[in-house]
Amino acid sequence: MIRTLRNPAVALGALCCTLFATGTALAQQDKGKAVYDKVCVACHSAGIAGAPRLGDAKAWAPRIKTGIDTLYGSALKGKAPAMPAKGGATDLPDADIKAAVDYMVAAAKDGGSGAAATAPAAAAPAAAAAAATKPRPAALSFNRLLKPASKRNPPPPEDGIHDPQNDGTHALQPPLQVFESLPRSNAGNRVDWVKALDNNLIAPRWDRTDPAAAPVVMDLNIVREVKGSMPDVVYPHKQHTAWLDCSNCHPQIFIPQKGANQISMAAILLGQKCGVCHGKVAFPVSECRICHSKKKNVMPVKNAQAN
Ligand code: HEC
Ligand code: HEC
Ligand code: HEC
Ligand code: HEC
Repeated sequence: MIRTLRNPAVALGALCCTLFATGTALAQQDKGKAVYDKVCVACHSAGIAGAPRLGDAKAWAPRIKTGIDTLYGSALKGKAPAMPAKGGATDLPDADIKAAVDYMVAAAKDGGSGAAATAPAAAAPAAAAAAATKPRPAALSFNRLLKPASKRNPPPPEDGIHDPQNDGTHALQPPLQVFESLPRSNAGNRVDWVKALDNNLIAPRWDRTDPAAAPVVMDLNIVREVKGSMPDVVYPHKQHTAWLDCSNCHPQIFIPQKGANQISMAAILLGQKCGVCHGKVAFPVSECRICHSKKKNVMPVKNAQAN
C-alpha cells in the first residue's frame, strides 16, 4: 500500500544538506528560513490548528520559556495534537529542523518589528487572511480529527453532529466500542479505514435503499509533481472510488483531466480541493507522507541502468 512506501534517498538528501549547513552563522540563518519557507510555513504562517504564528511574540513567549531544547524536541519528535515530527519533512536532517526553530524563535523575539509582516505569508495568503479575522480558519472549525485524545470520538449525543433530542441518537453504538477492534492509524479518529475496508472488517452499504448496489472501483493513480523537496503526491482513484461516487469529485471539485486542476497546500488547509474531505471525514493534513508518497528521482543512476 502507498502508505508504507519508504524513502530510499534519505542518505543522499542528508549529505547534500549537511554540506550546505557547514557554512557561517549567516548561512545557518538562511538555512533556517529556507526550511521554514518550504515546510513549516504550511501551518505556522496562518496559525493552522493552533500553531504559534511566525513573529507572534505573545504566542511564542511561554514556549520560549520552556527552553530551546524543549522546542527542538517538539519540532523533531512532534507535539500532540497537530505538530507532526519534523513538520512532516522526516527526510530532513535534525540540524535543518533546529535551524528552522532558531529562525522562528528569533522572529518571535523581534516581536512585531516587521518579522510578522515579512513572514512569507505569500505561500498561504488566503489562510493568513482567514486567520486575521477569526482565531482559526473557518475550514477547521469542523475539524474533529485534530482534537486532543480526550475529546476524540465522543458518544453520538455529545459529538455536536447528532441531535441529542432525537431518541435515535441514543440508540447509536458509541464509536469507541467499535473502533477498538479496527486497524489503527496515527491520526484522525485513529482508525485506518482503507485497511479496515481492504480486510473486510467493515462493509459500508453503497446505497441507502438498495443493499445489493456496489461501487465501481477504478484503479488509476495520478501523480502530481511537487516543486521543492517534498515527495510527489500520488492520488489513488482505487481507495477513493471504493467509498465515493465519481460525482463526489467530478466535476465540482476536480476537472477529470490530469494536471488540469490547480492544487496547493494553502487551498487544502482551507478546506478546498483534497481538503474538502481530508481533515474532516478522511485522514488530516498532518499525515504528509500518505499523500506525498512518491520519492523524486534525485538524479539518474547510471550504474543501475547498466546492470
Ligand atoms: C501540520 C502543521 C504544522 C507544520 C507543517 C509545522 N508545525 Fe510546528 N506546530 C504546529 C502546531 C499545531 C503547534 C502547536 C502544538 C501545541 O503546542 O499544541 C506547533 C508548535 C511548534 C513549536 C513549539 C513547540 C513547543 O514545545 O511549544 C515549534 C518549535 C514548532 N512547531 C516548529 C516547527 C518547525 C521547525 C516546523 C517545520 C520544520 C513546523 N513546526 C511545522 C503545527 C505544525
Ligand atoms: C476523491 C475525488 C475523486 C473521485 C471520487 C474520482 N476522481 Fe477522478 N480524479 C480526481 C483527481 C484529483 C484527478 C486528477 C486531476 C488533476 O491532476 O488535475 C482525477 C482525474 C481523473 C481523470 C483524468 C485522467 C487523466 O489521465 O487525465 C479521469 C478520466 C477520472 N478522474 C475519472 C474518474 C471516474 C470515472 C471516477 C469514478 C469511477 C472518478 N474519477 C472518481 C479525483 C477523483
Ligand atoms: C490529502 C493529501 C495531502 C496531505 C496530507 C499533504 N499534502 Fe502537501 N500537497 C498535496 C497536493 C495535492 C499538493 C499539490 C501538488 C501539485 O502541485 O499538484 C501538495 C503540495 C505541497 C507542497 C508544494 C507547495 C504548495 O503549497 O502547494 C508542499 C511544500 C507540501 N504539499 C507540503 C506538505 C506537508 C509539509 C504536509 C504535512 C504537514 C503535506 N503537504 C500534507 C496533498 C497533500
Ligand atoms: C470527496 C472526499 C475526498 C477528496 C476530495 C479527497 N479524498 Fe483522499 N480519501 C478520502 C477518503 C474517504 C479516504 C479513505 C479514508 C481515510 O483514509 O481516511 C481517502 C484516502 C486517501 C488516501 C489513502 C490511501 C491509502 O492507501 O491509505 C490518499 C493517499 C488520499 N486520500 C489522497 C488524496 C489526495 C491527494 C486528494 C486530492 C487530490 C484527495 N485524497 C481528495 C476522501 C477524499
